[in-house]
Amino acid sequence: MSNAPLRRDLPKVGIVGAGQVGSALAYACLIRDTAPIISLYDIDKLRVDAQVADLAHGSIFAEPEVIGGADVSSMRDCDVIVITSGAPQKPGQSRLDLAGINAKIIADVMPKMLEVSPDALYVIVANPCDVLAVVAQKVSGLPTNRVFATGTGLDTARLRHLIARRAHVRERNVEAVMAGEHGDTEFALWSSARIGVTPILEWTDEQGNRPFTDASTNEIAKDVADAAYQVIAGKGSTNYAIGLSGSFLLDQLLSATPSMLPVSSILDDYYGISDVALSVPTLISNQGIVRPIEVPMTDREHQELTASANVLKDTIKSIGY
Ligand code: LAC
Repeated sequence: MSNAPLRRDLPKVGIVGAGQVGSALAYACLIRDTAPIISLYDIDKLRVDAQVADLAHGSIFAEPEVIGGADVSSMRDCDVIVITSGAPQKPGQSRLDLAGINAKIIADVMPKMLEVSPDALYVIVANPCDVLAVVAQKVSGLPTNRVFATGTGLDTARLRHLIARRAHVRERNVEAVMAGEHGDTEFALWSSARIGVTPILEWTDEQGNRPFTDASTNEIAKDVADAAYQVIAGKGSTNYAIGLSGSFLLDQLLSATPSMLPVSSILDDYYGISDVALSVPTLISNQGIVRPIEVPMTDREHQELTASANVLKDTIKSIGY
């Protein structure tokens, strides 16, 4: 299958891994018109050629050109490369349980990608994505603005969805962020959460009741943290939502104007936290990470952020990075 795109001066997104997540991300980019060229790479030739063919057969219904294959050259000259390849969570398995095996994959993949796309931004989706972002940065030596993870972008989408459902409003009316690890120690920044311009804890329904209490907000945050486990138990993996949230992140990274998203970048003295990647509200642009934003936090939120950072640091250390 030819990897030669029709023209090279067009934005190109590379996706490493043609499994459930990588193919869902490619499909989301295809139907959301994220970039003119979408290229899928996997070492499994049979699988990646099938995924590329299945996506390309739908090209008449969408704008992007879908290419790819099992040759690393399909990742040449990408603007952004997303790494989804890695062992997926099994039912009941935590993301951190995958750190050792998936760090080896990152250490193998990064040098190969840098040979063909030395100037790309690198986004880690494979889990534990926060830990693997640090591994990717260390093995590549890339500046920390160019290698980061999707982090709690998806968890934030889940949080906004659950809040919107409870408040009977559209998700776009909800401003709320999940911060910390993309995993069991993530937490909601309730102190800055809003519905419209109303602080969420002051929101009242038509009967004047307040649906968001300490109890209900704790329940919502737990449902967000448990969401992937529930989906994996039912269908074996998550793929659609991470595909859509990854495609949305790519839209922002290919935009001419910076925007705010919770992503997982290597922090440098963020409320005293350094040398670990975890998610906080961050200004991003087509240069990658512009800067994490030190949003106001309660003492409890500070404690949860620090606890999350410590769990991630321990995991990074346990796999030798
Ligand atoms: C999830 C995976 C992407 O949260 O970690 O669905």
